[in-house]
Amino acid sequence: MSIKSKKSDKSSNLRIFLFVLLVKIQQILKIFIDRFKPSMEAFWDSHYITGVWDDLRKIEQVPLYSILTGYFKFFKKGGSILDVGCGEGVFLERLDPKSYSKYVGVDISQEAINRAGIKKNKNIFFIREDVYNFKTTETFDAIIFSEMLYYLDMNKILNFMNKYENYLKKDGIFIVSMINNKNTETIRKMLEKVYPILDKTEINNITKHSWICEVFLPSKQLKL
Ligand SMILES: C[S@@+](CC[C@H](N)C(=O)[O-])C[C@H]1O[C@@H](n2cnc3c(N)ncnc32)[C@H](O)[C@@H]1O
Repeated sequence: MSIKSKKSDKSSNLRIFLFVLLVKIQQILKIFIDRFKPSMEAFWDSHYITGVWDDLRKIEQVPLYSILTGYFKFFKKGGSILDVGCGEGVFLERLDPKSYSKYVGVDISQEAINRAGIKKNKNIFFIREDVYNFKTTETFDAIIFSEMLYYLDMNKILNFMNKYENYLKKDGIFIVSMINNKNTETIRKMLEKVYPILDKTEINNITKHSWICEVFLPSKQLKL
């Protein structure tokens, strides 16, 4: 064997060794990161504990909840509600107690549910569950997604909505609100391509933000 080929053998062995080392380092780093990454529940609990969402009860949010509850009353007065990612149930707090027959709120954060201003009773239920995993055999007149869709994986949103269509009554509706920004505009366009819009309102107030509330007819109703 020549000296040259011995040298090239050594350098290719070194390259393989470095590659394997890099892969191992990546694997170890992933295990380390996964172990210390807070769970989604802990992440959202910490938001509520530190008061990040206290603002939802402030006057700036009055127009948002007024539109959402107004839509519910207009389209589905006396009906049942599934509030997906319900948080502390501020939407429920803003509802006229006589305007709905049943309310089910689902949220990943037990801390949020514990803080709910209106507590569970015979027609109010709070369920701690990841909304991706939540399942029910019940159907509802309206499903509310208030300021929560943009926390989900963008690529999973249409499948996610499709699953929730199964939890709507035959003539049920989706009520969606999202703060207005580039990210939510993309989500909104996706939803508007699939779901017929019954109504849409943009809220602008004293803050520098704006919000868009929409009422959608689920796409499955079109196939009936
Ligand atoms: C901005 S807060 C809005 C709360 C409520 N919808 C409202 O408008 O008052 C977003 C909520 O979504 C919940 N959330 C986010 N991802 C979730 C998931 N994967 N499963 C269940 N809840 C989730 C959070 O815990 C949080 O309470």
